[in-house]
Amino acid sequence: MKKSLRALLGELQPVRVMGAHDGMTAVLAQNYGFEAIWAGGLGICTAAGVPDAGLLTMTELLDAAVTMRRRVDIPIIADVDSGFGDVNVVRRMVQLYEGEGIAAICMEDKQYPKRNSFRDGNVLEDAGVFARKIAVAKAAQRGDDFMVIARLESLIVSAGLDDAIKRAEVYCEAGADALLIHSRARTADEVAEFATAARAADITVPLFMIPTTYPGASARELRACGADAVVYANQVIRAALQAMTAVLDHVAQQDSTRLIEGDIATVADLFDLVKTDELLDDSPWIGLAEKAGSPA
Ligand code: SPV
Ligand code: MG
Repeated sequence: MKKSLRALLGELQPVRVMGAHDGMTAVLAQNYGFEAIWAGGLGICTAAGVPDAGLLTMTELLDAAVTMRRRVDIPIIADVDSGFGDVNVVRRMVQLYEGEGIAAICMEDKQYPKRNSFRDGNVLEDAGVFARKIAVAKAAQRGDDFMVIARLESLIVSAGLDDAIKRAEVYCEAGADALLIHSRARTADEVAEFATAARAADITVPLFMIPTTYPGASARELRACGADAVVYANQVIRAALQAMTAVLDHVAQQDSTRLIEGDIATVADLFDLVKTDELLDDSPWIGLAEKAGSPA
C-alpha cells in the first residue's frame, strides 16, 4: 500500500474517499487520484443484484473488498454494516479483514438486520453493546495501521445530536480510531453541528462524512464543517446505473448501437483500463488473438 489510511488522515484535509464496488471501479477511483476507497455495502449489494439489507454474507462482502484491494495500492475502507453478528463474529471479522490487507472497517451502531440508512426501519444498537463490539474489534487487530471506524446513526434515526455525542464519547472510550457521522439531511448543517459539539466534548479522532443527501457541500466546505475525510459512497454505482440504462434503452428501441457508439467506451478503453498491454508476449493465446485481429 502506498500510504496507510492513518498517515493520510494526518496529512490531507480532507481525505477524499471514493465508493467502489468491484475491481474496475476501484481502479478508476485510484486513477482519478482519490486517496482511499470505500467498499460500500450499497454498491456491492446493488452490483450483486440484491438489496442493501444484510443479505450478503460477510465473506461475500470481504471477497468484493479483496478484489478491489488486489487491483489498487490505496487503502480500502470496508463497510461492514453492523458487524455481521455478536462480538465473536466481530472478532473473527477483524482477523479476516485485516488478514486480507483491508486498511479499515467501518461498523455502524444499528441492530441486525440493518437496512440501508436511507430506508426506514433501522433501530439503533444499545450504545454499550456497540462499544463492546468496538473494543473487541480493536483487541483483535494485529498491526498498528488497521483502523476501526465507528459509524453513528443517531441522526439517521432522528435520535438527535445529544444522543450522537454521548455515543461518540462512549465509542471513542472503547477505542474507536475514527467516527463517521451519517445524516440524511439536505444540507451539511447537521453534521457541522455534530463536529463542533464533538470537538467541544474533547473528541479528537478523525471525523468522516458522507455527503449523499447534501451534495451541495464540496469537500473543502465539509473540511470547514469539521470533516477529516469525505466519502462519496454511491455516486459511481448511481452513474453506472444511469449510463447502462441509457444504452439499454436506446438499443431496445433502435435495434442498433450506431448512433451511440461515440458515447460509449471503446473496447480499447476496456483493454487500457486493465492494462491488457502489460500481458506477457510469450503467453500463447496473445499471438492467436493478434492473428485474429482486434476489434478495438
Ligand atoms: C454504503 O455505501 O453502503 C453506506 C453508505 O453504508 S450509505 O449508503 O450512504 O448509507
Ligand atoms: Mg452500507
